[in-house]
Amino acid sequence: MNYRHAYHAGNFADVVKHIILTRVLMYFKRKDAPFFVMDTHAGVGRYDLKGVEAQKTREAETGIARLMKALPNAPKEVRELCEPFTTLLNDMNEDKLQHYPGSPMVAQSLIRRTDRLSLVELHPEDFDELTVNFNWAKNTKTHHLDAWQAMKAQLPPNEKRGLILVDPPFEDRDEFNAILRALYDAQKRFSKGTYMLWYPIKDLQMIASFSRVLSGMDLGRTLDVRVMIDRPGSQAKFIGTGMVIVNPPYVLEKELKVLLPWLVKLFEVVPGSGSHSIYELVGEQK
Ligand SMILES: C[S@@+](CC[C@H](N)C(=O)[O-])C[C@H]1O[C@@H](n2cnc3c(N)ncnc32)[C@H](O)[C@@H]1O
Repeated sequence: MNYRHAYHAGNFADVVKHIILTRVLMYFKRKDAPFFVMDTHAGVGRYDLKGVEAQKTREAETGIARLMKALPNAPKEVRELCEPFTTLLNDMNEDKLQHYPGSPMVAQSLIRRTDRLSLVELHPEDFDELTVNFNWAKNTKTHHLDAWQAMKAQLPPNEKRGLILVDPPFEDRDEFNAILRALYDAQKRFSKGTYMLWYPIKDLQMIASFSRVLSGMDLGRTLDVRVMIDRPGSQAKFIGTGMVIVNPPYVLEKELKVLLPWLVKLFEVVPGSGSHSIYELVGEQK
């Protein structure tokens, strides 16, 4: 396990992923009934953008730093939809941007006392840091487990309502298949759950076959959301961020139609190089 998220925290893909996460959780909070959140690849939960790792790549400069600078001049609708995310950023930082929340912190900032957050991380050092970061929270538990085993062990949750974020490091090419296997399995036990499956846009052929398999699976309504910051070229470069959302909140598509065009303009490599898409992979509610 070589991947450490500290090198990439706050990059454009993180920002898109975390804003979508806040929108899904805001919808979950509309109802009083408690819900369960599982973060299968949690990382350490929060990041220091002035730390050695983040400074080595400086990816946050074209990600969260750009967003925080541009947001005051964004259209009101965009600002409102980003608010749960930016409130957290403002709470973590005083006047200068230094701290960035990972998905565990994003989720923790929005769940209620009666909701439950399960954070799974396999890297031993990252797991220790994650545990230190969240051991104060009564509604949050960390697990030093393999994500795929943890999904088997923890689903279905008692709560009946649940969100499972699957955000692997994509260190090897089999990760797409691992996600498909895990989703296939988890769906059998928790078909009503909302699943957010993150993937990098690099190898377009691989992604096409991933989408094909998903379209043929017996899933509830499923969206495939992409933000491209550059045009596809011959190199398998990291040109975009993707998210498959199984059983999305019904308002999500409408919200993303407001957010994504603005995020594309913000993050595209050169003016006009970016694009976004929202496809419905599976349309029928089971
Ligand atoms: C992309 S990072 C997660 C970032 C985090 N979700 C966020 O948004 O802040 C992927 C994490 O998965 C962990 N990881 C890798 N393989 C794993 C596995 N099989 N089970 C659980 N965690 C794993 C890595 O150590 C790394 O911290």
